[in-house]
Amino acid sequence: MQISFAAPSPKVQSGSWVVAATEGGKLSESARKADQTSGGALGRALKFSRFRGKSGQFLEIAVPSGLSLSRILVVGLGKVEALDEKALDMVGAQIVARLESAGENSATLEIDLPKGAKVKSGEVAAHLAFGARLRSYGFDKYRTRNLDEFKKHLSILKVATSDVAAAKRAYQGLEAVADGVTLARDLVNEPPNVLHPEEFARRAKALGKLGVKVEVLGEAEMKRQGFGALLGVGQGSARESQLVVMQWLGGKKKTAPVAFVGKGVCFDSGGLSLKPGSGMMGMKGDMGGAAAVTGTMMALATRKARVNAVGVIGLVENMPGGDAIRPDDVLTSLSGQTIEVLNTDAEGRLVLADALTYTQRRFKPKFVIDLATLTGAIVQTLGFEHAGVFSNDDKLADRLSEAGRHTGERVWRLPLDPAYDKMIRSKIADVKNIGGANSGSITAAQFLKRFIEEGTVWAHLDIAGVAWQDGEQKPLAPSWGTGWGVNLLNQLVREHYET
Ligand code: BES
Ligand code: MN
Ligand code: ZN
Repeated sequence: MQISFAAPSPKVQSGSWVVAATEGGKLSESARKADQTSGGALGRALKFSRFRGKSGQFLEIAVPSGLSLSRILVVGLGKVEALDEKALDMVGAQIVARLESAGENSATLEIDLPKGAKVKSGEVAAHLAFGARLRSYGFDKYRTRNLDEFKKHLSILKVATSDVAAAKRAYQGLEAVADGVTLARDLVNEPPNVLHPEEFARRAKALGKLGVKVEVLGEAEMKRQGFGALLGVGQGSARESQLVVMQWLGGKKKTAPVAFVGKGVCFDSGGLSLKPGSGMMGMKGDMGGAAAVTGTMMALATRKARVNAVGVIGLVENMPGGDAIRPDDVLTSLSGQTIEVLNTDAEGRLVLADALTYTQRRFKPKFVIDLATLTGAIVQTLGFEHAGVFSNDDKLADRLSEAGRHTGERVWRLPLDPAYDKMIRSKIADVKNIGGANSGSITAAQFLKRFIEEGTVWAHLDIAGVAWQDGEQKPLAPSWGTGWGVNLLNQLVREHYET
């Protein structure tokens, strides 16, 4: 989809002309212009319709007579007070969804907010475009039949604004985020026979063309350095495990970077503690944390963020087999701590343990945030609406919560406490990789905390409920993989860590 910004034209000549009304059905200025142009058709249609300008409502006039348009579409904006940036993302997405279902290929948006709106015209246009772009995503590369049914039709989107320069400026940053989200979605959607650790690493390497420094450590190098926990998870797989280190150095020289660490289990069968068939479905998405980290690095590099950022992802496949780790095995992690593996399906924390140690020791980061589809328990706790956040630092936790409210990728904080740490004491090693029957997300976080070194500011995001969606699709995410986390982390950096 080609997106452009322009000043409002006196008359839109072709395609769909999209205008707005606020709650109560009050037409905006441009909607009144459309009404006049159509000889009062909008006003008449309003009378015979249930359209009240509520968020998500539409009023459509098809092929308005005397005009060369395919339709005039009035979108409901809801209450003006509620129209913040994320609400405008949503409006852009709703418009695209509506136009796609109509089969439209070209549209002009003239969404002008009434006085008293919080967001300025340029930003309004940029966020409409951002939402539109996110909603126009599709993953159809493996379809060979009925392409017309799946193909996106909308190819030209013009967004009118009274401040074209500001819109372009704001959209530049948002388009970078959309690029990162798109990459993260693609990675999550890819099947595991295609996206194994080496293929994931290859795709991460492509960020090199944006100025990201990308290093890949293979099994031999990781063995030499002592990544016993990560390599343990991968040892039952025919595929080689990888650690990818991405660096974007857009900030001041020699200032500590911010660091993101991702769980990249390209397929989680459970290993010898095999998952049942129903629980194994979708486990191609168990690299959603690594996808979010890679997408974030892409976003930061694309918009040339003035920050030093590192992304470290541990890529493995968790498979059963004669070489696989057994329940009862003891692994020696990169940190030197020994881990008694009592369930090979609690593998993500093993991968993260070594990736976290590596990241802290090599980079001494300002903070480290890990993202992982870590526990089924977080899905039971928070469902699909929030990711769980655990942190040893109130300020970082608050900043994440705030970035979540801003972007709509919301997080909810859960506790860490020595009382939970007791639950992962091992009879023979330093720590065991499972807790008890209860509070599974918390004991997983307590496990990770064992690998956080003195002085490291850390947050862990358990994204098992939000990285993909099997049920109802979120308005901004029209595919199984959501790309969750890229927008959130970008916002966190933008707000607090750029020079
Ligand atoms: N990748 C799973 C967590 C998961 C489950 C994500 C369902 C999304 C949906 C993780 O590796 C796992 O298997 N966790 C176990 C831990 C248990 C064995 C302590 C779980 O949550 O059941
Ligand atoms: Mn598992
Ligand atoms: Zn897993």
